Amino acid sequence: MQMQDTARKTAADGQVSLRRRFVGAGVAVLLAAAGGALYRHFSSTSSIRVESFMTPPTGGTKRILVLTGSARRGGNSEVLAEAFARGARSAGHTVEVFSCGRTPMRACMHCEGCWSTGKPCVLEDGFEQLWPQLEQADMLVFCSPLYWYAFSGHIKCAIDRMYPYSRKDRLRNMPVQEAVLLMCGESLFPRSFAGAAESYRQMLGFRHWKDRGRLFVTGVHEFGAMAGHRALATAESMGRNA
Ligand SMILES: Cc1cc2nc3c(=O)[nH]c(=O)nc-3n(C[C@H](O)[C@H](O)[C@H](O)COP(=O)(O)O)c2cc1C
Repeated sequence: MQMQDTARKTAADGQVSLRRRFVGAGVAVLLAAAGGALYRHFSSTSSIRVESFMTPPTGGTKRILVLTGSARRGGNSEVLAEAFARGARSAGHTVEVFSCGRTPMRACMHCEGCWSTGKPCVLEDGFEQLWPQLEQADMLVFCSPLYWYAFSGHIKCAIDRMYPYSRKDRLRNMPVQEAVLLMCGESLFPRSFAGAAESYRQMLGFRHWKDRGRLFVTGVHEFGAMAGHRALATAESMGRNA
């Protein structure tokens, strides 16, 4: 009787240890899968991600104005902008690159003095160099580093100063028909750009600009991080397709 009990206990212990081994193996498989998923997540989001492709070229040669949003000369966003400009010039477009970061301008004061002097704005600052170019551009390219999950203040000030062109009593128009958004940031997550992307999307709707493409480059922070980055080839081809 005692022997039978012992045999039963041994068999039960064997089943428990077998179950433990199965559970252990299951946990190990789950951990490996989770590790793999995390690895794939980080390794893929730390590289470039094109949120939407350029639509097919709309034809003709264009006057393209690229607004850059960093004060760092040769910084990451500027290198990205240059790649786009190179591609666009190679396709025969006329391209101007305007550095909002190094041509400081104030934010709009909402003083309603627009056009009162015949110029779009009464403030005398870097915008005086920008507005003549805005009045010539068929396409606007916003190229900004991500600052606090949004456009940089430099480029945002320039955008705010376009307010006179939205007024009913405007004296002149911006002929802009199309727009492109290029951005880069330190974050490894494309969703970090969601705020700026939505802001851009709303601007397109408001201004009836056609969206010609968006490019978000994650994981670039230090000066020079954009050098040789594969995002440059994408930006250049977006420029060629402009
Ligand atoms: C004021 C400031 C705010 C920033 N905010 C963010 C941010 O919210 N998210 C992010 O990913 N990177 C952020 N960055 C990092 C820049 O986006 C990143 O370094 C970028 O590559 C700089 O581009 P640049 O060389 O053209 O200036 C910030 C940098 C600065 C200076």
